[in-house]
Amino acid sequence: MRKNIVAGNWKMNTTLQEGVALAKDVNAALEGVQPKCDVIICVPFTHLASVNAVIDANKLGLGAENCADHASGAYTGEISAAMVASTGAKYVILGHSERRQYYGETSETLKEKVALAFENGLTPIFCIGEVLEERENGTFFDVVKEQIESALFHLSAEDFGRIILAYEPVWAIGTGKTATDDQAQEMHAFIRGVIADKYGKEVADNTSILYGGSCKPTNAAALFAKPDVDGGLIGGAALKADSFMGIVTAF
Ligand code: 13P
Repeated sequence: MRKNIVAGNWKMNTTLQEGVALAKDVNAALEGVQPKCDVIICVPFTHLASVNAVIDANKLGLGAENCADHASGAYTGEISAAMVASTGAKYVILGHSERRQYYGETSETLKEKVALAFENGLTPIFCIGEVLEERENGTFFDVVKEQIESALFHLSAEDFGRIILAYEPVWAIGTGKTATDDQAQEMHAFIRGVIADKYGKEVADNTSILYGGSCKPTNAAALFAKPDVDGGLIGGAALKADSFMGIVTAF
């Protein structure tokens, strides 16, 4: 079901102690507030169980930032979807551009990760988005369409309906250069159209599509006001409870 969602992606930031403190701060800030969106924090693997112990799951969802593309076995250093789920986490970010860029993730590995996430009851927050060169040479619609088709369009309509999408133009991530609300709306509407062509209008209308890339309290309201922007995936601004809450309350 389509929902408004604000999700934090802490990336490789905070020690365990700092992370637990931040989670407590966000949890406390949500007390007595009725946000017009679901609120999720996606945290480093090492923090999951401890953060789960200090948050109110009715107010604040918990997710991982990745999971392995194998179920279990001799994959030293990897963390499986089952391990993530066993911490109490309910979400997992998959296909973030940093993982595609720096760790060679492809649609093939992402298909496996999506399947394992589902098997373990995790909701994928699946990231797509073009790099600057693709924005400038005008291929960005094709690039994003291909990312969705190649990693997700083998799914049944029912399974596709369980995915949260996050459009994150790579040129806007951590750069302070946000896509304009019109650029975000244009892409989100395009993505919804691609989904409608494959699965029909009902599935498309029920898909939550988040925007990510230098989203801040000062620009969130304009982005979230766009009809096809259902919230945000927040990096830097999720690392302080007050700026994260400034985005949560932008709805
Ligand atoms: P920033 O909000 O720091 O640009 O990061 C966005 C992002 O990559 C969230 O996944």
